Amino acid sequence: MCNSAIICLAIVAAVASISQVSAQAQTTPQSCAQATGISFNQTAFSGQWVELARNPASNVSCISLNVAFWNNNNYMLVNVSHSSNVASTLVDVYETANITLVENNLSGYNVTLVNGQKQEYVFVKLLSFVNSTYLVGCTYTNATNTSTSAGFILGRSTYTPEGVRIANNDASVSFSNFQNNTYGNVTQLDCRASSAGQTVPLTLISGFLAFALLLIKA
Ligand SMILES: *[C@@H]1O[C@H](CO)[C@@H](O)[C@H](O)[C@H]1NC(C)=O
Ligand SMILES: *[C@@H]1O[C@H](CO)[C@@H](O)[C@H](O)[C@H]1NC(C)=O
Ligand SMILES: *[C@@H]1O[C@H](CO)[C@@H](O)[C@H](O)[C@H]1NC(C)=O
Ligand SMILES: *[C@@H]1O[C@H](CO)[C@@H](O)[C@H](O)[C@H]1NC(C)=O
Ligand SMILES: *[C@@H]1O[C@H](CO)[C@@H](O)[C@H](O)[C@H]1NC(C)=O
Ligand SMILES: *[C@@H]1O[C@H](CO)[C@@H](O)[C@H](O)[C@H]1NC(C)=O
Ligand SMILES: *[C@@H]1O[C@H](CO)[C@@H](O)[C@H](O)[C@H]1NC(C)=O
Ligand SMILES: *[C@@H]1O[C@H](CO)[C@@H](O)[C@H](O)[C@H]1NC(C)=O
Ligand SMILES: *[C@@H]1O[C@H](CO)[C@@H](O)[C@H](O)[C@H]1NC(C)=O
Ligand SMILES: *[C@@H]1O[C@H](CO)[C@@H](O)[C@H](O)[C@H]1NC(C)=O
Ligand SMILES: *[C@@H]1O[C@H](CO)[C@@H](O)[C@H](O)[C@H]1NC(C)=O
Repeated sequence: MCNSAIICLAIVAAVASISQVSAQAQTTPQSCAQATGISFNQTAFSGQWVELARNPASNVSCISLNVAFWNNNNYMLVNVSHSSNVASTLVDVYETANITLVENNLSGYNVTLVNGQKQEYVFVKLLSFVNSTYLVGCTYTNATNTSTSAGFILGRSTYTPEGVRIANNDASVSFSNFQNNTYGNVTQLDCRASSAGQTVPLTLISGFLAFALLLIKA
């Protein structure tokens, strides 16, 4: 195939550099704006989630989400609750979002979070769904400014701290919002709600998580 040693070497070098380039292209972690997301699976994503980790670290605690779908699954309704600062475990901030889903939209959604008269816009993209337990995603408010971007890991009540670490470190291979072994845990222990109407699920969930964590730590 090769007529001379020089040409052979040139071919080998060319092939080597091509495979190096493609290997590099595969392993360069992508920003939130660049990354390809996953479709929303209404069956798999409904119900209660807690936020377990965020990078950079969250400035509030006890973040919990309730997700439901409405009108033939065209709309995703989300209730978000959390404390008003990172030191507090009193849940007293409530936000809602009503997201119009587009089938097979992998580019994410510009979500309007409504809190009374206040509205906040955040672009949200889901990146991976791991073992039916962890939902990895990212957000930004300005696509060209990575400082407005964050990575998050949501979990079902069956999560473990080790699972969070694995989900984070696996995500760091593909997505630049995640750094190997570096993330802020979101406090989910001893969370309590401020108003009677909302206490029941929260208390149950945080109580259960506290119990589960105790078992894991023991
Ligand atoms: C959505 O999730 C359900 C339940 O986890 C699963 O059975 C179904 O195959 C998923 N659908 C798609 C399109 O991935
Ligand atoms: C959100 O909260 C409202 C008011 O408490 C409730 O009516 C609604 O069912 C909740 N939605 C979800 C998705 O949990
Ligand atoms: C948390 O940080 C966001 C910006 O990332 C800011 O808008 C918000 O006011 C901060 N909240 C608190 C309680 O410090
Ligand atoms: C969600 O938004 C759609 C479209 O704007 C609207 O028709 C629907 O009433 C909203 N649902 C809720 C529960 O707010
Ligand atoms: C996906 O949704 C985003 C935000 O709503 C929108 O900008 C984008 O055009 C949509 N993509 C597709 C393929 O519908
Ligand atoms: C989301 O929508 C709001 C309101 O239309 C807009 O101001 C904001 O720039 C949008 N954000 C992104 C990241 O597209
Ligand atoms: C988004 O960030 C870029 C810098 O990365 C800045 O030039 C631009 O003004 C920002 N846009 C908004 C709407 O803040
Ligand atoms: C990028 O966003 C950060 C955080 O909001 C802000 O402090 C910074 O000024 C922005 N940079 C530019 C160039 O707009
Ligand atoms: C998901 O399950 C696989 C196979 O059991 C395991 O190797 C992996 O560590 C799990 N990932 C997480 C985040 O727990
Ligand atoms: C993360 O760091 C650990 C050592 O702390 C290393 O063994 C592992 O290979 C790293 N993973 C990635 C994806 O870089
Ligand atoms: C997160 O919390 C777990 C369990 O409480 C702990 O083992 C781990 O070191 C924490 N991780 C980080 C990055 O703070």
